[in-house]
Amino acid sequence: MKTIRVGLGARAYPIHFVEGLVSEGTARGFAELDAAIGDSVFVVTNETVSGLYSVNIQALFGGRGLSTYVMPDGESHKTMDQVLAIVGCLLEGGYTRDTTVVAVGGGVVGDVAGFAAAIYQRGISVVQIPTTLLAQVDSSVGGKTAVNHPLGKNMMGAFHQPNAVLIDVTTLRTLSAREYAAGLAEIVKHAALADQDYLVWLENHVAEIVERETSALSVMIAWSCRIKAEIVAEDETERGRRALLNFGHTFGHAIETLSGYERVLHGEAVAIGMVMAADLSCRLGMIDQQVRDRIARLLTAFGLPVAPEKGFDSVAFRSAMGRDKKATSEGLRLIVLESLGNAVITADYGEDNLRDTLAAYLT
Ligand SMILES: NC(=O)c1ccc[n+]([C@@H]2O[C@H](COP(=O)([O-])OP(=O)(O)OC[C@H]3O[C@@H](n4cnc5c(N)ncnc54)[C@H](O)[C@@H]3O)[C@@H](O)[C@H]2O)c1
Ligand SMILES: [Zn+2]
Repeated sequence: MKTIRVGLGARAYPIHFVEGLVSEGTARGFAELDAAIGDSVFVVTNETVSGLYSVNIQALFGGRGLSTYVMPDGESHKTMDQVLAIVGCLLEGGYTRDTTVVAVGGGVVGDVAGFAAAIYQRGISVVQIPTTLLAQVDSSVGGKTAVNHPLGKNMMGAFHQPNAVLIDVTTLRTLSAREYAAGLAEIVKHAALADQDYLVWLENHVAEIVERETSALSVMIAWSCRIKAEIVAEDETERGRRALLNFGHTFGHAIETLSGYERVLHGEAVAIGMVMAADLSCRLGMIDQQVRDRIARLLTAFGLPVAPEKGFDSVAFRSAMGRDKKATSEGLRLIVLESLGNAVITADYGEDNLRDTLAAYLT
């Protein structure tokens, strides 16, 4: 079994890779389960994941005072109402501060369950068991939890690090092709912003990755978790370097806003956003066009879009970029590639360059 540590001093925690944990309901060779979970468990999952894996979840956690809260599926349920419903079940069940909330699902389940754990009786333990690719390489690691407000995504939340993250890469076999590809966008992001060797490895393993071969998945997901863990350990609350994880996201945010969140998946918007950010990096003289095209080729091989649909207005697009949560009072800051594997944040991109990038991609 492979383990990666997220080095956060007193809040440090392990990411354990345990094949079969959720897909078979066995913790074979995983003596750390007890240490990670404890005796009193409250599982949060959703209808889809429960439909696929409830028997296995029962097999794993039955006998630990197991109660399960099953959320409806979908981003539209990432709400305070769901958090309050979970808190209500915890209170009605007499759950004390020794309880561990176990989130089994994608990023929506992880964010809602994590936030409920952050506020229940001023904070109880949470263990993340992510079952989507995006959740395994992104949302389950790093301690950000949040729910949406009608006026904005992720507008209420807390930093609350999990006690452990348990990753079963074999759960990805049941994920839809589109959700799987969306997770791959965040993986390409990790490679582009932090590790050129990783990008080369991805390019050399496209077939195995697309086929979801277990051994390739384990290497890839561990590599991404290591990159994310290292950045989070340096900058837990996103005052500096952690912002680099938003590479492609300000452009992507504009695409999500203008397309409607239902039509485009976050990862799809980020894929397009990364190509646009790489294009801007070219215009700043940082990388050459071959690097931008290499990133686009890899995303295409993973089944992701690399240019926005026709019909976006560039003025509306620029204005939606400015409304990104990452924009500060000083104005827009963008993540660009100084070189492949080395992202930087800049306010000095030049509006003319940005206008040229928008003109090149928005027709
Ligand atoms: N906390 C963070 O740091 C962070 C980072 C990135 C994204 N997020 C949040 O994560 C959310 C997106 O997460 P997501 O992409 O995992 O979406 P999701 O949680 O909606 O899951 C996508 C779909 O896959 C289904 N699913 C989950 N596991 C499955 C499995 N093994 N087999 C088949 N289907 C499965 C879900 O039911 C859902 O329909 C967003 O709300 C986003 O804001 C949070
Ligand atoms: Zn993202």
